Amino acid sequence: MKNNSPNSKRLIENQKNLLESIPEMVLLVKDYQSVEYMNPSARNFFGDLRSEKINGDEKALATTDALLKIVKNSILEKSIGQTLVTTLNQAHLEYTLAPFKGYKGDNLFWFFIRDLTENHNQLEELALFHNSIETILSHKISELTKSERMRKALAQELNSLKEHLKEQPAEGKMIGSSRALSELRDMVFQVAKSDATILITGESGTGKELVANLLRESSNRNNKPFLKINCNAINDSLLESDLFGHEKGSFTGADTKRKGKFEVVDGGTIFLDEIGDITARMQAALLRVLQDGEIIRVGGNLPVKIDVRVVAATNKNLAEMVQDGSFRLDLFYRLNIINISIPPLRERKDDIIDLTTHFIRKYRQAFKKDINFLPQSILNRLLVHNWPGNVRELENVIQRAVLMAKNNVITENELFFDLQPGDNNQPEQKTYLQQIEGRTLKLMIADIEKDIIVHLLDKNRGNVAKTIKQLDLGKTAFYDKMKRYKISPKDHK
Ligand SMILES: Nc1ncnc2c1ncn2[C@@H]1O[C@H](COP(=O)(O)OP(=O)(O)O)[C@@H](O)[C@H]1O
Ligand SMILES: [Mg+2]
Repeated sequence: MKNNSPNSKRLIENQKNLLESIPEMVLLVKDYQSVEYMNPSARNFFGDLRSEKINGDEKALATTDALLKIVKNSILEKSIGQTLVTTLNQAHLEYTLAPFKGYKGDNLFWFFIRDLTENHNQLEELALFHNSIETILSHKISELTKSERMRKALAQELNSLKEHLKEQPAEGKMIGSSRALSELRDMVFQVAKSDATILITGESGTGKELVANLLRESSNRNNKPFLKINCNAINDSLLESDLFGHEKGSFTGADTKRKGKFEVVDGGTIFLDEIGDITARMQAALLRVLQDGEIIRVGGNLPVKIDVRVVAATNKNLAEMVQDGSFRLDLFYRLNIINISIPPLRERKDDIIDLTTHFIRKYRQAFKKDINFLPQSILNRLLVHNWPGNVRELENVIQRAVLMAKNNVITENELFFDLQPGDNNQPEQKTYLQQIEGRTLKLMIADIEKDIIVHLLDKNRGNVAKTIKQLDLGKTAFYDKMKRYKISPKDHK
């Protein structure tokens, strides 16, 4: 076929049109060393790499080298005719090589190239997107797992708290895990069932009345009457007729015969508090009860049989009183058949934390305050105090602190101790809650308020400004209260 034949001209023309217009890049390479032809797409993409156009352009030379290397490798790997991918100048290319029959036996190859970079980037983006979804999901999953774990931990904590609450003795039980208290508790339960007379001794505020209550609760008489008499509260003759009753006309005002408490309580338990304070006369009458199980009404002479269990308590040293003759030895023996001696709080400091927690819980409820934190420093302060007023003092301290606490935390500012060290054996004060009977909330709060102000003034040596600041009160409000409670700062200097 001659070049100039009209047929070959048409073929060449058609081939040229095809090559010039397709979007694929087409190159013709020769002898693995030069580019002979590039269609416009290829020129557009690589720049003109044809041997006659390169002119020592380094970048173009490097690109040509890279392309020729691909051709060489394809021939070595016999991948001519296969569609493959490669990366060149950061472009992702798909290529196919096809042999070109030239004349003069030159080694010529068609090099068809498609740019897949955009496609590739999209795929990569997609992969990234995919990845990030995975990351997000795995984050979320780990968060969920974490919060599930947390939820479980919380549920567990809640359960153990509930358990703990169940274990927590109800109001009126003896709190404390010190060895002394454990032994004491054991003893209480051991002796409760018998009808033996029990003498409870211990400093004021150690829990003597509490023990008496427990004794009665765990005794066989727990559903029988329980009577508490404070022997120092009433004058002696009244006490005697109160306890033993009286015959008509036995003393002025005794118009009718009256049964005494020992008779009324028959079958039950009687708690004689402050037994160290009774007179010799009462001591004799009591001895009869304990010795013979009978009483004689005031003004009478017929003994009446009674069945009463006696529990007595005192903060006095009865043995010493026997020594100095102010307490009958025989009565002491009768009372002291079983002695429950409660050690002072300073000798069982292990109980302080338990008791503090217990009282915080109690008053948090009573005052509707959400105290949930007690700083270690406060606890340390409570631990070093020597508690002359024992558990009662601790209860009072915590009660005031809970009432005054701001931001649900008890701080040093809210700590006031009842008594100065060495002030022991003061007359027994009752805690506020023990004096609720028949009193209005207003009166009780007033009592507490007054106590707080007096304590603070004492602590601040009568410094009003400092006290006002600590109480976070207005001046007028403070002076109103001073007036109402008849407090004078001078008295506290
Ligand atoms: N171990 C204890 N656990 C809980 N509260 C106690 C304990 N010991 C004493 N208390 C409380 O302290 C206060 C004083 O106790 P109380 O029995 O009246 O003492 P006492 O008769 O020895 O002066 C009461 O409010 C009592 O409930
Ligand atoms: Mg008492």
